[in-house]
Amino acid sequence: MFDVNKIRKDFPILSKTINGKPLIYFDNGATTQKPKAVIDSIVRFYSEQNANIHRGVHTLSREATILFEEARKTTAQFINASEEEIVFTAGTTDGINIVANGLNLPAGSEIIITEMEHHSNILPWQLWCERNNGKLKVLPINDDGTLQINKLEQLISPSTKIISVAYVSNTLGVINAVDEIIKVAKFNNIPVLIDGAQAVPHMKVDVKDLGADFFVFSGHKMYAPTGVGVLWMDKKWLPKLQLSKAGGGTIKTVSFERTEYAEGTLRFEPGTPNIEAVIGLAAAIKYVNTIGIENISKHEHTLLKYATEKLNEMPEVEIYANHLDKAAVISFNVKGAHPFDVGTLLDKYGIAVRTGHHCTQPLMKHFNIPGTVRASFAMYNTLEEVNEFTEALQKSIKMLS
Ligand code: ALA
Repeated sequence: MFDVNKIRKDFPILSKTINGKPLIYFDNGATTQKPKAVIDSIVRFYSEQNANIHRGVHTLSREATILFEEARKTTAQFINASEEEIVFTAGTTDGINIVANGLNLPAGSEIIITEMEHHSNILPWQLWCERNNGKLKVLPINDDGTLQINKLEQLISPSTKIISVAYVSNTLGVINAVDEIIKVAKFNNIPVLIDGAQAVPHMKVDVKDLGADFFVFSGHKMYAPTGVGVLWMDKKWLPKLQLSKAGGGTIKTVSFERTEYAEGTLRFEPGTPNIEAVIGLAAAIKYVNTIGIENISKHEHTLLKYATEKLNEMPEVEIYANHLDKAAVISFNVKGAHPFDVGTLLDKYGIAVRTGHHCTQPLMKHFNIPGTVRASFAMYNTLEEVNEFTEALQKSIKMLS
């Protein structure tokens, strides 16, 4: 049974006070807090298991390698992939850059993204376009934050070489109909990359079911350490995707004349990886599995619904994408107040929200605003915290008016 009070005890930081008030952490879209199981896995690694991987014949190195490769299996199972298709990266941004730089698209190619993308799913493609005379095409959104998928066909041309979209908007929480996008893309023989950074913490993801070509996400938004992420690619891409980063661990043989690279995912993991973070990622996945991602989804949806109802009762508050077809994220503004001022006042009550453009400046331009206040929930948040938050917001609004 899902017991939020029991879950909260697993997250040491939640007993912290901020400005004399119990911490209410609603900035989970930026990064989640870490359960003891993850913290312990890192301490254990450095206390008992630390060695470099894939390189040593000695026992400790073999043990560390086993742990690392077990983490790959755990990660693969989490998204219903095969472990041969899992590349460990530094995070979502790294994964998108590896694909953007590795596709080796012909000069003049067109790339389709959407108006709600995080800068990490804009800039790698924009850079590629600038350097290769390419063209970035943008699928617009409606004012409720949903994508105008009916316009996708019109954007596609014979030069379209990839479509790269967020599964869930980091700013709005809107869940995109990526299955429809993938269907259209497949019909037109165009590969698809899905930025799943804001999806995996909130909902079940099955990459086989989705049928995209690439799927990327970060560990730290799903209770794992920072500095680790995952690039899943359909196996057909493994030999095709070119290397944008090379180094130790990626090779079979090296001479000054020629290098023969390793096959499979290892060739995308040059240098010593963030071993403890990969092991921490596996611990986070096991923790999420114990709670059950469906239970997490359900609980977060209850929080979303309740918080949306409470905010909708305040005439001064305007919610962007004001509906419930979303992951547990609410972006809003207080009329006449700057989001930074609202965020600063909420902090006085111990409430952590993110304020600003959330790395989605083009989306802010759509709404003609400089930024929003974003409350994003995780499995350990409670209805009582939502009450505290809305009361603190009422008080802040009074102070600002
Ligand atoms: N991408 C993270 C966010 O949305 C940092 O806050």
